[in-house]
Amino acid sequence: MLTGKKILVGVTGSIAAYKSAFLVRELIRLGADVRVVMTPASREFITPLTLSTLSKNPVAVDFVKPETNGQAGEWESHVELGLWADLFIIAPVSANTLSKMVTGQCDNLLMATYLSAKCPVWIAPAMDLDMYKHPSTQENLTKLTAQTIRVIDPTSGELASGLDGKGRMQEPEEIADQIDAWFNPASKLRGKKILITGGPTYEAIDPVRFIGNHSSGKTGVILADACANRGAEVLLITGPTQQRVKNPRVKVIAVTSADEMMKTVEQNWFDCTVGIYSAAVADYKPEFAAGEKIKKTDDRLTLNLVKNPDILKWAGLNKKKDQYLVGFALETENELENGTKKLVAKKLDLLVLNSLKDAGAGFGHDTNKVTFIKPNNKTATFELNEKTVLMNRLLDEIEHDL
Ligand code: CTP
Repeated sequence: MLTGKKILVGVTGSIAAYKSAFLVRELIRLGADVRVVMTPASREFITPLTLSTLSKNPVAVDFVKPETNGQAGEWESHVELGLWADLFIIAPVSANTLSKMVTGQCDNLLMATYLSAKCPVWIAPAMDLDMYKHPSTQENLTKLTAQTIRVIDPTSGELASGLDGKGRMQEPEEIADQIDAWFNPASKLRGKKILITGGPTYEAIDPVRFIGNHSSGKTGVILADACANRGAEVLLITGPTQQRVKNPRVKVIAVTSADEMMKTVEQNWFDCTVGIYSAAVADYKPEFAAGEKIKKTDDRLTLNLVKNPDILKWAGLNKKKDQYLVGFALETENELENGTKKLVAKKLDLLVLNSLKDAGAGFGHDTNKVTFIKPNNKTATFELNEKTVLMNRLLDEIEHDL
């Protein structure tokens, strides 16, 4: 996450300027404070209004602020912008701006900001393949690299000119990832495949009715977003939920019943390093789901229920040596004792014990109260807190153990 980090995005005149909108949005999503400085030429490609709306801050373009409410003549301080930022990323950087950065030519606010910036500066070039290959551009990049400016290499592909080659600005999500990794270098989850189950399961009685439970699916979605924010490759297998993942890098497979969830887990568990099974799986299902809607002809209706597969137990029994498995439990009595039994029986590395007793904890709330149980009776109990905070604490614990 980039919470509390101040990132200044510089935009120069290139077709790829439209990608800076996605970069700003991605940085905001990761929690950063974002401000934008544009060159006059970049306004031909993207409007300051788009970038100020996405960054939630006014955009700096000219040395003098535009007249507002009858007040004029206010200076846009390039020094203040350069000092404010923890990181200055110029994306896209054009061949023209690259050249100015080398010579120190200061004919716009972005260049003045660059020359007065005290923070690390990164650049993401975007230009036509021949412009990029040109010895002058390459020499400029070498000189800037020697000044400790970090260059995010362009990628190859179809260019605005219609030609094919190297020169496309790196994708905004990838740039944001690299920024996140730079600020948070320690995450052991980066690049790891993580399987998460979440939400309830619905067990069909007939085509219109089912047996379900009150799980909202929030915990699964929070976990999936938090893992992806740490750079993991996430697969969320979730039962029916209204919750939406925010991180575009989470792959979601929506399932309905425990059997479907089981099948999807079987197909994916062996590819993953970590499994976090937070779904509230129905323990029982109707033995037969009626093909047609059941009519209310009789005074009594008896449903025969049979046991669902225990998905977590299957994952534990089939766990490989290098896989780390987390399960959840909701106990109403002898919580620690029963939780520990579950940890052993399902061969877990960590069990998250949920509370139903505390106000604000349990189904549907944004807060929860949990205890972590690990092998050898190691436990840690946490106060009532936001689910996001607690699930990030869980990820810290997993990272510690990996
Ligand atoms: N779980 C599962 N498949 C099931 C039932 C539960 O994968 N059919 C998983 C849940 O995702 C959770 C854990 O098992 O991580 C604990 O579920 P819980 O309902 O507390 O325990 P059970 O094992 O079902 O035992 P019991 O209901 O008897 O307490």
